[in-house]
Amino acid sequence: MTIGIPKEIKNNENRVGLTPAGVAEMKKYNHVVYVQTNAGESSGFSDAEYEEAGATILVSIEETYAIAEMIIKVKEPIESEYNLIKKDQLLFTYFHFASSEPLTHAMMERGAVCLAYETVEKLDRSLPLLVPMSEVAGRMAIQQGAKYLEKPQKGKGILLGGVPGVPPAKVLVLGGGIVGTQAAKMAAGLGARVVIMDVSLQRLRHLSDIMPPNVITIMSNYYNIREAIAEADLIVGAVLIPGAKAPNLITRDMLKLMRPGTVVVDVAVDQGGCIETCKPTTHENPTYIIDDIVHYCVANMPGAVPYTSTLALTNATLPYALQLANKGWKKACLENDELKKGLNVANGKIVYKGVAEAWGLPFIEVNTIL
Ligand SMILES: NC(=O)c1ccc[n+]([C@@H]2O[C@H](COP(=O)([O-])OP(=O)(O)OC[C@H]3O[C@@H](n4cnc5c(N)ncnc54)[C@H](O)[C@@H]3O)[C@@H](O)[C@H]2O)c1
Repeated sequence: MTIGIPKEIKNNENRVGLTPAGVAEMKKYNHVVYVQTNAGESSGFSDAEYEEAGATILVSIEETYAIAEMIIKVKEPIESEYNLIKKDQLLFTYFHFASSEPLTHAMMERGAVCLAYETVEKLDRSLPLLVPMSEVAGRMAIQQGAKYLEKPQKGKGILLGGVPGVPPAKVLVLGGGIVGTQAAKMAAGLGARVVIMDVSLQRLRHLSDIMPPNVITIMSNYYNIREAIAEADLIVGAVLIPGAKAPNLITRDMLKLMRPGTVVVDVAVDQGGCIETCKPTTHENPTYIIDDIVHYCVANMPGAVPYTSTLALTNATLPYALQLANKGWKKACLENDELKKGLNVANGKIVYKGVAEAWGLPFIEVNTIL
């Protein structure tokens, strides 16, 4: 198959859809890979490294789309890319169709086959191509939180791990899923006293078994949250209710229970945030202060560490990309239900129910197009 790797042009996107290691894997199966010049530059991969792995470098995004049967990307195509997409071209990338009606219509009109990372789903309902970014964001939440606890950043001026004779900081993690687990591990590793709250007793049992002794688990409810936020130095919001807006576990009036200089890192900001006063920020201007509480609410945290994020993402996407390249999308989806769940748009039709429902558009069963 002929594969194209365009340079991401969405604002602030520094990741790339395939690494030189991925090119080498594709070459093993005799696939032909074209990479747009400088596509990997912001992630730390040069054109020379891609060439060495067996790719051909193309000068423009137009050529890259024109030559490829399959495009592997990171972000959804933006408007200037719509017209570059050919009928029956396979696009393997994040789409998040339910948040953009124009994108949905554009992909239907172009006749593209859109396999969305975010809906590839395992039998246990986990989302293997979202997990790596949650892992990055969870670990980063503590790194950022520790920085903003410093006085010059308007934090309390407390060192996360303390020092001998001085107690460490208290970290509260709301939600013990992927983000919460990684955040708790990082905070515990730095020596903080960590509380994880979740509504799932089963999840709390598991966390209680695997976490080090400086992490305790507490059931998430209004009463317990009110008590815990008064003590916490750093609070990480990591709650997710699939398909719904995050619940406001900390409301505006609860900020007054917290001590000045407390830092809140609301990772769940992309789903509306679990702190009422959270609104999305950017890496250029990541924080703001309300009632002396430092809010960090960057909606695209992994974007700040593109080297790690690209490797983490492509580790997860490459095995699926190889199946698509080796078998073609129809056979690959017929033989792998995880991939089949990723199909959102094909032959000008919506084949993923949630997307059709989001825009009140017709939906057809995915099996009818395979
Ligand atoms: N800002 C970013 O850059 C970024 C990056 C990656 C992920 N995220 C977001 O982080 C959030 C968490 O993602 P995840 O992968 O960890 O999800 P997950 O599904 O693995 O975990 C969510 C957890 O929240 C728990 N939960 C639900 N309601 C709760 C409540 N009322 N109190 C406490 N816990 C509750 C669930 O039981 C679950 O364990 C999502 O909104 C995700 O989109 C943001």
